Amino acid sequence: MENQENKKRMLSGIQPSGDLHLGNYLGAVKNWDEMIDQFDCYYFMADLHSITVRQNPADLRRRSKTQLAQYIASGLDPEKCTLFIQSHVHEHAELGWILNCYTMFGELSRMTQFKDKSAKNTENINGGLFTYPALMAADILLYQADYVPVGEDQKQHCELTRDVAIRFNNIYGETFKVPEPFIPKVGARIMSLSNPVSKMSKSDPAGCVFVMDKPEDIARKFKRAVTDSDTEHCVRYAPKEKPGVSNLMQIYSSVTGKTLEEIEKEFDGQGYGALKPTVGDAVIESLRPLREESERILADKAYLESVYTEGAQKATYVARKTLRKVYKRVGFVEKPF
Ligand code: TYM
Repeated sequence: MENQENKKRMLSGIQPSGDLHLGNYLGAVKNWDEMIDQFDCYYFMADLHSITVRQNPADLRRRSKTQLAQYIASGLDPEKCTLFIQSHVHEHAELGWILNCYTMFGELSRMTQFKDKSAKNTENINGGLFTYPALMAADILLYQADYVPVGEDQKQHCELTRDVAIRFNNIYGETFKVPEPFIPKVGARIMSLSNPVSKMSKSDPAGCVFVMDKPEDIARKFKRAVTDSDTEHCVRYAPKEKPGVSNLMQIYSSVTGKTLEEIEKEFDGQGYGALKPTVGDAVIESLRPLREESERILADKAYLESVYTEGAQKATYVARKTLRKVYKRVGFVEKPF
């Protein structure tokens, strides 16, 4: 691995609680690999976070590995960045506990993700779901990350991370780097294809395009995408008045690199009927190499294992250094062995 000294550090993760979808890809992963040469990057599978919602163990294991293959297939070269599984670095859980003690009940109560998830899982509103942001703060602060590339929905958690870091530093002196969220201009909030006023998420499979979906399934989902019932019927970017069309334009812009103005011109004089299959085809073509390469990598179990083993070793080295400092600051007796 090349010398990463003097580079700013990036860190992010995705929960393997479902298969990777277009929102995760456009809002997060696609932007990660663009920064890989410029930054010292750490990307992980957030499996500790996943169990805040009940998971099938075999599926969770399979998805963690599939997600790693998808990271690599999307351009995250393990020679250039550190890829690891969160539960392999126990320092996350340890710092998570400590930061629980520096995160306020009121702050946690205001988190939208907690409110949404507890409304959807009324039979399992567990403590982990509530204190989830303290673990996320630990993930970030352990690595002294400068930037956290995420979609729009994670901004609130990143802000809480900053508050917790500042609070801790104020009590004990400079311990943590205060990180900044890094949110892409296009693709930060991809909406459901079946209900464009709500975020694309794995809990709504009809409106969600998965990275590993077959081309014919992707085409079908785009053909059925809900557009808007306004009378104007022209392709124009207006998220409030035309959420369906605007979402399709965002997706198209994100996968092709065309600007929203260029897209408006391209569809000038045409209705929504022309837009849907064109976006579908563009998504199919942009996901095709990713799906094929992921399948190839997934078949090579020994390679995948070597990547996550080496990743965990590198991550542990950095995480341990921060945790040691934190233990000292809060007043724990130094471990003699
Ligand atoms: P998660 O697993 O829900 O989502 C992973 C990433 O995908 C982005 N994302 C979206 N972006 C655009 N449109 C969408 N519809 C969409 N849905 C999801 C998310 O913003 C995120 O960037 N708490 C985090 C995981 C996490 C983490 C961390 C992230 C744990 N520790 C430390 C950064 C740093 C989460 O639940 O993301």
